[in-house]
Amino acid sequence: MRILITAGPTREALDPVRFLSNRSSGKMGYALAEAAKEEGYEVTLVSGPVTPISPEGVNLVKVESAQQMWEAVQSLCKSAAPDIAIHAAAVADYRPKIVQSQKIKKRDEALTLELERTPDVLGSMRTVFGYQGFLVGFAAETEHLVENAMTKLQRKSCDLVIANDVSRADTGFDSEENEVILCFPSGNTEPLPKQSKRSLAREIIRRVATLAAEKEH
Ligand code: CTP
Ligand code: CA
Repeated sequence: MRILITAGPTREALDPVRFLSNRSSGKMGYALAEAAKEEGYEVTLVSGPVTPISPEGVNLVKVESAQQMWEAVQSLCKSAAPDIAIHAAAVADYRPKIVQSQKIKKRDEALTLELERTPDVLGSMRTVFGYQGFLVGFAAETEHLVENAMTKLQRKSCDLVIANDVSRADTGFDSEENEVILCFPSGNTEPLPKQSKRSLAREIIRRVATLAAEKEH
């Protein structure tokens, strides 16, 4: 069984020395990759720039920008046809419309940046990449956690969305622990207790494996 996982932030270049990014540490995605490997999956990890070292035996594809992540995932969906895809990456939603070829010099008192939307990797899985396997997304929210997660589940045709309250300092972005709510297409939800990202990853992989097998039949 093949599993594809996205992880980490993306970097959107402004000029040769600057970029826009976010606080994602990549820990959740890397923990998922390790747990999937332990369960015997053939794992491909598409990762933005992060510090965690790749788990042994995992096929690591390094990317920087949202566009690169989109292209890498598209080509992997074609060549490797994963049975399960889990999108844990914190992909930038916007990027600078113009990438300057030279370092931007400081001049005026204020500088306005024009941004444009990046491609939605998870949102392209069904519609553009023709992916038919078991599809899992994350939803990072600071309010209306379940409601917003359910909207994402429907919009991106996921089989499961893992909702994560990122307004809390002790869980979510750049922390050791995480507490999530599983959101299902039926509208049902199930909270998983607060625990280390490692143990949460094992739990998620076990659950996803069972759900994916049920969906097959
Ligand atoms: N995602 C993605 N590509 C993007 C943006 C998001 O693949 N350009 C994926 C994330 O990896 C995650 C899910 O979509 O699995 C939801 O990401 P999130 O940032 O919570 O939602 P968005 O759809 O980007 O909406 P918003 O940020 O406005 O809440
Ligand atoms: Ca987003």
